Amino acid sequence: MSAAPSSLAHDHGVITRWRAFLPDVTTDTPVISLNEGSTPLIHSPRLSECAGRGTNVYLKYEALNPTCSFKDRGMTVAVSKAVESGVRAIVCASTGNTSASAAAYAARAGVACVVLLPSGKIALGKLVQAFAYGAKVISVEGNFDDALRLVRELGADASTGVAVVNSINPHRIEGQKTAAFEIIEELGDAPAVHFLPVGNAGNITAYWRGYREFHAAGRAKTLPRFAGFQAAGAAPIFFRTRVEDPKTIATAIRIGNPASWASADEAVAGSRGAIDIVTDAEIIDAQSWLARHEGIFAEPASAASVAGLLRCVDAKREPCATCPLRNVPEGANIVCTLTGHGLKDPDAARANLPAISSIPAELSAVRAAIGGG
Ligand SMILES: Cc1ncc(COP(=O)(O)O)c(C=O)c1O
Repeated sequence: MSAAPSSLAHDHGVITRWRAFLPDVTTDTPVISLNEGSTPLIHSPRLSECAGRGTNVYLKYEALNPTCSFKDRGMTVAVSKAVESGVRAIVCASTGNTSASAAAYAARAGVACVVLLPSGKIALGKLVQAFAYGAKVISVEGNFDDALRLVRELGADASTGVAVVNSINPHRIEGQKTAAFEIIEELGDAPAVHFLPVGNAGNITAYWRGYREFHAAGRAKTLPRFAGFQAAGAAPIFFRTRVEDPKTIATAIRIGNPASWASADEAVAGSRGAIDIVTDAEIIDAQSWLARHEGIFAEPASAASVAGLLRCVDAKREPCATCPLRNVPEGANIVCTLTGHGLKDPDAARANLPAISSIPAELSAVRAAIGGG
């Protein structure tokens, strides 16, 4: 009989791959991993054509993480550190993806997980995930910002023995920065422009840290410019004011008061980037365009990055003075991050489904249905 495999022998997750850049992870830290990270950077010929000037557009497809979103990169570090510190449970507020990820890593670690979700505003797939992984799901009568306030209060009380694993937990940002490392490794340098959806602004903060660290380490010659996109009905950073009642079909970025607002501002200013908005209609069009033209299915919030790119290159629009794509060098690399999988939000995708009619189980009927006569 062969010996039982060591749980780390086949692990290529974020901590194993990038340990040298994660100083908080020590030899005392138990590695709670699901082999997250190392997601594909997919070249998009059609988006490259849309962007023009011989540029190459790549899609960092974070949907291929274990719980189908980028959150797993930070969660492996946050949950490993939480277990190291001996907590009873982890807790988070979530628009859906954080709860799915937290629940999975808690299950893996054997600790309890409590998730606070804004009532009625969670995509079905994400809710199913949280239950499937055994989390205690609490629905809060309020929005994400209310749920996060409650979680902060819970975390501040040391007697509860819980660790908050939202992106206000610095270990989350540490893990998430590794996506920038992977992009630099594949492209040989940072892209000229990086398009991202922005909600609570943890991810733009994390990417900026990752790009700067690799730049400082001599692993990249350049730094990218960020083009961050918020949904028009949930755009506090763009409008420079809190949104009391954020509204968008892209539930993952339905946030009115981003926790990492200040560091997002730093990332945008430091990278000579910009924050802009896209409408829900543009988001849904981009989601459908991407699926039909490139065979890549991403959830609505993710499609905000592509909707942003399509908006920037739309010849019918007045060019924007602050657009990071202006004066982009001929042949430059551009990256859009697709943060989560399209299957997470079947209701959003269902809006585009035509009626399906059935036919008799006969070849002639099939031929007629496909239009071949
Ligand atoms: C799919 C998806 N895209 C984008 C975001 C926004 O990321 P951040 O809140 O770090 O700005 C989230 C956050 O929940 C998300 O789940």
